[in-house]
Amino acid sequence: MNRQQLLSHLLATDDYVSGEYLSNRYGISRQAIWKHVKALIDEGYHIESVRRKGYRLVEQSDISQNSVAQLVARSPLFDEGCFLAAVTSTNSFAKKQAAQLGNALIVTANQTAGRGRLGRSWLSDAGGSLCFSMLLRPAIAPYLAAMLTQVAGLAMCRAIRLHAALKSEIKWPNDIICNGKKVAGILTEMASEMNAVEYVVIGIGINVTTQHFSDELAPIATSLAAHTKQKLSRLALLEHFIAQFSDLYQQFLKTGDLAFIVDDLNRLSQLVGKDIWIIDNQERRSAHAKHINQRGELVVTIDGVEQNLYYGEVSVRLDHGENS
Ligand code: BTN
Repeated sequence: MNRQQLLSHLLATDDYVSGEYLSNRYGISRQAIWKHVKALIDEGYHIESVRRKGYRLVEQSDISQNSVAQLVARSPLFDEGCFLAAVTSTNSFAKKQAAQLGNALIVTANQTAGRGRLGRSWLSDAGGSLCFSMLLRPAIAPYLAAMLTQVAGLAMCRAIRLHAALKSEIKWPNDIICNGKKVAGILTEMASEMNAVEYVVIGIGINVTTQHFSDELAPIATSLAAHTKQKLSRLALLEHFIAQFSDLYQQFLKTGDLAFIVDDLNRLSQLVGKDIWIIDNQERRSAHAKHINQRGELVVTIDGVEQNLYYGEVSVRLDHGENS
């Protein structure tokens, strides 16, 4: 008996299946069955275990090794997919395994040491958030790779609209905002030679049904579920994202710039048209965000002088000079 057979067995009934029955039927010990059950629980399946009754599949996880494999099989972008029951960081995993993997989609239900931009951490909860990384090998010059964060941001806004019927915004360069609070973040990393990208890893964390945030995060973080009445599925959201991203990514590879989406990037920008702070270490400078250009840079004016930001930390400047 393998894990898949056990899952099929549990899926076939709403009732409890006893450990003794499974043990006799498949000729393996009850301890071995418990190990399979535990592995399925780690994969995100909600399995109830009741003494003298046995095991019952309460709810099928929306995301699993099978569903990721099916998604990858339908996608033109990926050679392979991994679903990890738990991992420190899908980006770190992708980078460590890059030599062994083709173009890959790595998804987890439980990321234990997620990383954000600028050395920050990314917190997620096993049941309610979606964390994944795409390991890709675009034939582009390294200086173009940062644009992929914008491509991924737009794909995520579209996926959120399609799946959750919600409007979201992009806070340049890598945050997705819903009703003023951060719902998702993107971390793009790269390994390259002087003139060619070896690989990029685009990692996204999104709070889908997350209910509770720490006191520190509550004022600035949110989840999709907090703003929609739609029934949300992490798998369906991921499917929408991959479909949108595949399309935009292929167009981007043809042109090597963002002219084809620059209008959308400006329309969805949380910053464009606003007075902002540019934060550099401990210092902050006041600026006005004019627009995003076709290289994905934020064009600002500082004391009337135009400047293009291609990297950095910015925040909307509120009336009283506080950071948002
Ligand atoms: C940020 O907001 O600064 C970016 C957050 C990116 C989080 C995602 S979750 C999946 C992938 N793995 C990581 O360790 N980080 C990214």
